[in-house]
Amino acid sequence: MNWLCLLVLLATCGLAHGTWDNCGGLCGYRSVSYDYGAAAYQYGHYGMTRVVGGTGAREASWPWLVSLHHAWIPGTGHMCGGSLIHSQWVLTAAHCFDDVSNISLVYVMIGATQLSHPGPGAQIRYVKQLRTHQYYNKKNMKNDIALLELDYPVLCSPYIQLACVPDFTLRVSELVYCFVAGWGATSARASTSSDLLQEAPVHLIDLKLCNSSEWYSGEIHSSNVCAGYPQGFIDTCQGDSGGPLMCKDNIADYYWVVGVTSWGEGCARAKHPGVYTSTQHFYDWILAEMAASPYRKASLAAQTWGHFPAVPQPTQYPWMGPPVTQPPWMGPPVTQPPWTRPPVTQPPWTRPPATQPPWTRPPTTQPPWTRPPATQPPWTKPTAAHPPWTKPPASEKPKPVPTSSDQVSSCPFPNDELVKFFTQVKDLLQEVFGENTT
Ligand code: ARG
Repeated sequence: MNWLCLLVLLATCGLAHGTWDNCGGLCGYRSVSYDYGAAAYQYGHYGMTRVVGGTGAREASWPWLVSLHHAWIPGTGHMCGGSLIHSQWVLTAAHCFDDVSNISLVYVMIGATQLSHPGPGAQIRYVKQLRTHQYYNKKNMKNDIALLELDYPVLCSPYIQLACVPDFTLRVSELVYCFVAGWGATSARASTSSDLLQEAPVHLIDLKLCNSSEWYSGEIHSSNVCAGYPQGFIDTCQGDSGGPLMCKDNIADYYWVVGVTSWGEGCARAKHPGVYTSTQHFYDWILAEMAASPYRKASLAAQTWGHFPAVPQPTQYPWMGPPVTQPPWMGPPVTQPPWTRPPVTQPPWTRPPATQPPWTRPPTTQPPWTRPPATQPPWTKPTAAHPPWTKPPASEKPKPVPTSSDQVSSCPFPNDELVKFFTQVKDLLQEVFGENTT
């Protein structure tokens, strides 16, 4: 029966290119499907109204994008961007905290689009701890990356979803549809941030070109990603730092956060594109920092790591839970933490009923677990040098001690159905070949 188990595991629980999640086992999915069309990528066709050269984003456009606020900043209080990579962790830039001496003045707004009117989808959290990279260098901006642990986990909703962070099996340079977004200045001269989230399409730029003499002449590190346009005009700017550089997966409908906005010479200048910290480069650092948290038990115990995609829970979605009489961030951790999955009346890998909320299933495309036969399933990347289930040695990645529920919670099909199916296949094979195939 061993081959059967292996087959079932490989086929149904394909390991992804390094994701961790807890919003129903999903990351990188946008709540609404947005069709920018190829025209968005022909330079100049994307609304050139004003990030710099971008346009106002629609609600819930980038549901993992967060705004870091500082109580002393006038106006909206916006300080930097960030990406929610776990219900209790935000990935951002280390330099955002260069001038912050008291982290308790920083708070995080999640699920907002317009900062002055965050709306009912927004949640606020304070910072339990800041972990900046130990080798962050202010002078040359090396290792410009940081993690914030939130005081309480956020509740996932159509407005709040997790970002996917790529491990080393993803070929980032081959990703084509990339975007930046943030509440930063809409021009290099503007001193204020933007109230409405701005977004813009960008191209990934070869590091060698980016580091060449007329460009950044040697200032770019191998842990950076450059993105923008040789001609300039569209770019991130002051206030966008810490936010994500995001690229759509080449096969599926989800996005990877491949960069953290770090710096640039001016904004939107020719041959001086935005410089981003590569999340792929720091994948292990991110995992290690999250795992090393002294609060780890509380924050990670209930998580399932490394499997993607999984099917969201059919019976109850976190935001459908019992009416919140008290905002979740005000309550002390209760006997059952708010992020613990509700009692499973139906196994989590059962297909959701037809009434599932629209964000799990972009209207025009098929859900991830019923791919059209022509395309490959998400766990078989055609271009990967090695299949994703031949992950780098375990020593590279600290893994939580798996529990039996961790093991199965991302299988999208009921086990008994699978066993039945494969037993039938086995019987058939026996009939055809007349030999024992177990
Ligand atoms: N350092 C800036 C910030 O703190 C981000 C600048 C990005 N610059 C650029 N040209 N892309 O918000």
